[in-house]
Amino acid sequence: MRNARTPTVYLKDYQPPAFLIDKTDLRFELFEDCALVRADLLIRFNDTENVPDQSCLVLNGQYLQLERLLVNEQELSAADYILDGDCLTIPDLAGLLGNRRDDFSLTCHTRIEPQNNTALEGLYKSRKMFCTQCEAEGFRRITYYLDRPDVMSVFTTTIVADFNKYPVLLSNGNQIDSGAESDGRRHWVTWHDPFPKPCYLFALVAGDLACVEDRFVTMNARDVVLRIFVEEKDLDKCDHAMRSLKQAMRWDEEVYGREYDLDIFMIVAVDDFNMGAMENKGLNIFNTSCVLANPKTTVDAAFQRVEGVVAHEYFHNWSGNRVTCRDWFQLSLKEGFTVFRDSEFSADMGSRTVKRVEDVALLRTAQFAEDAGPMAHPIRPDSYMEISNFYTLTVYEKGAEVVRMISHILGPDNFRKGTDLYFAHHDGQAVTTEDFVVAMEEASGVDLTRFRNWYTQAGTPVLDVRGNYDAAVQTYRLTIRQHCPVTPGQKHKLPFHIPLRLGLLGRDGNEMALHCNSANAKSDTVTDMVLQVTEPEQEYVFEDVKGEPIPSLLRGFSAPVRLNFDYTPEDLYFLMVHDTDGFNRWNASQQLAVGLMLELQTAYQNESDLKLPEILKQAYEGILQSALEDPGQDGAMLSQVLTLPAESYLIEIADVAEVEAIHAVREFLARSLAMSLEGMWQDLYRSTANSGEFSVAAEAVARRSLKNTALAYLSRLETEQSVELSAQQFHQADNMTDESAALNCLVNSVAAVEKGVTAAALEKFYKKWQHEPLVVDLWLSSQARSQLPGTLEQVKKLMQHPAFNIRNPNKVRSVIGAFSAGSLVNFHEASGSGYRFLADQILVLDKLNPQIAARLLAPLTRWKKFGIPRGALMRGELERMRAEPALSKDVFEVVEKSLA
Ligand code: TRP
Ligand code: ZN
Repeated sequence: MRNARTPTVYLKDYQPPAFLIDKTDLRFELFEDCALVRADLLIRFNDTENVPDQSCLVLNGQYLQLERLLVNEQELSAADYILDGDCLTIPDLAGLLGNRRDDFSLTCHTRIEPQNNTALEGLYKSRKMFCTQCEAEGFRRITYYLDRPDVMSVFTTTIVADFNKYPVLLSNGNQIDSGAESDGRRHWVTWHDPFPKPCYLFALVAGDLACVEDRFVTMNARDVVLRIFVEEKDLDKCDHAMRSLKQAMRWDEEVYGREYDLDIFMIVAVDDFNMGAMENKGLNIFNTSCVLANPKTTVDAAFQRVEGVVAHEYFHNWSGNRVTCRDWFQLSLKEGFTVFRDSEFSADMGSRTVKRVEDVALLRTAQFAEDAGPMAHPIRPDSYMEISNFYTLTVYEKGAEVVRMISHILGPDNFRKGTDLYFAHHDGQAVTTEDFVVAMEEASGVDLTRFRNWYTQAGTPVLDVRGNYDAAVQTYRLTIRQHCPVTPGQKHKLPFHIPLRLGLLGRDGNEMALHCNSANAKSDTVTDMVLQVTEPEQEYVFEDVKGEPIPSLLRGFSAPVRLNFDYTPEDLYFLMVHDTDGFNRWNASQQLAVGLMLELQTAYQNESDLKLPEILKQAYEGILQSALEDPGQDGAMLSQVLTLPAESYLIEIADVAEVEAIHAVREFLARSLAMSLEGMWQDLYRSTANSGEFSVAAEAVARRSLKNTALAYLSRLETEQSVELSAQQFHQADNMTDESAALNCLVNSVAAVEKGVTAAALEKFYKKWQHEPLVVDLWLSSQARSQLPGTLEQVKKLMQHPAFNIRNPNKVRSVIGAFSAGSLVNFHEASGSGYRFLADQILVLDKLNPQIAARLLAPLTRWKKFGIPRGALMRGELERMRAEPALSKDVFEVVEKSLA
């Protein structure tokens, strides 16, 4: 389908649409072998300036069989239009309309085959139900249309289907009519959505679904019906999503003043879904993995994900739907802002510091890697081949960081004024990131000129910070230099506006009062301030500094940058203990470990060279001691601090990643910490063991997290007792968090494997849970992520297992994705077998589901990081893929850019 002629779309070429569609009436007749779609469009000439040629009409459409086409109720003949694979063109529209510019109607009958739609874009079948996914450009697989977000239309949708197979028929808005067909077997329902929307927010669902219902009374006392639709067997897994939804609705009223606007809000869970969920107006469609939750089947992390994604999609009702994007280059307008909103919501629902740590860990490993790789792009990209490839960590997570920085630069009151102005000004419009920034400036009076570089420049800025203490005059001078590495197509970068939050700690462990005279240093409290760094090099002088301080820099990760400062291990240990900023205490623990690990990696030849650094042991001992003495501490935070930096992070910060050394050093340290502090881990495990009834309250989650951290260390002892401990927890667990944590220990334990304990546990687990697809996903990914040798062979076997299905994205992610991102030592096995395996799978998947295929490519795109033998092998696989004749646009773009 694709080759080097795949066109690139540029932001600079944006033109407003020549036509607008005021009304869209759709009628779907659903059958087992096809769906017949009739679209009646009311079209208007767009009267704004700079519109392109209005004498012809070009509609988007793909994989459609056109059956009839009418303009103003006059049937067109084949001579009146041109069809190619992507468009329907009516070259002489002007002639057909008698050169009048009045509104006109266009009726289009198409035939599509949802049952054969494996790409999961447009209308498709997931198990026994019909559903849609239209963002970004899926609607064009349903009917010919102006498939672009700046064309907003009022939709009325009728669905006709077999009553027994599809008793539930849903679309956006409110149900306005329904009835039975005369044959007595088919029925129909009509929905009307009064809010004009782009077609990417259209949704349809038909199936035999059960539903959980609740109500929400809005701030203005409007009654809203809430319904979550699932398969009957999943009715016991909806409570958490419903609770999260109501909390999100209340939170958006309280924090942003945003009220829900329809009388009904629906969520539907589907098994086959490319992403997490989709914010279709009034009818959100969710991957089952992001909505279903029950303690017996769902781990704590997944409960949190459900809460976050439910909120995210709900928040889109304002940040995305009421105010939408003008074009897809503006994607971060809705996604960055909405991720920021859901992240703050989760912080308010649980532990703020833990949420920050989790977000930053993701950003620093995966997003920084993206920013340093061949697909690097600004949060507002200026070109793409396939927009689906730009639903990235950069657009989402870095986009959220950019909004977070604005909120900090403006302060909470001005930020709220800014969002109020933005929503008021642009309600019902399709706008740009620039409109967002302008609203923020207008509401606050703050100048964000230099700040705008965050929207247009790719790459992660680097801050090099030096500190100089002058005892004679009692000043402390911070010199800050910023630069940003070259990224594809962007050689020279302008400086960024970087808010740098900091404090200074005295050697007594107390925060110092800050006296800084620089104009762009704002002091929030006496001991904590934000430097507005805007120049390539800047100096800040702190006065009245009684002794040489240890600076606590970039508190709360106040900007998405890499910060270099020459700390000694002792400084970091000191910050770990004394910093008042919880995020920076965690960060110090990670940087301490990173520094020591880098040293060990350089020295590493074989295991016998390695030695546990005393300071790391002391640090862990100190944390364990305090955890045991003061059980009131946040256990979730403690387990973050007690976790060594991830291999993926160590790879990301390396210039050339020595995977074997990284893996060996990390494993060695974890085992050494387990052995040298065995008694304390045991005490911790005992002190956090189950007490009474299961609960999903934050404290209970934190306790389980700490307990399972202890279990994972103890499991590394590889003794009879340690295997027994994991096995015991596995067999006795009354919840999936404990059960799967124990299973993970057994899967990664050589001793457990050799004793046959692992195989028995895996078998028991599968037998017990084979009818729960999401639990089977845990079973698959646990094995695919194994760090032990032989994992690739195991993965290949899993792909033959009846539980595996290459057409289901969750299964693909749980096996292929889990292996390539979670079993790094095996994926990067020296012969290149992991790379070959991944490339083979991508080529198979590309024929079925190009979006998923392109996403799986990410690990191979980083080939430059892995030195000569590995990098060359990875590159070889990319070249092999490029030589394939019919790559999808999705995979082609990523392969091509990776090899450029
Ligand atoms: N807008 C969705 C979200 O962030 C993202 C999404 C869901 C998506 N499904 C998709 C994007 C399919 C591209 C393709 O909540
Ligand atoms: Zn989103």
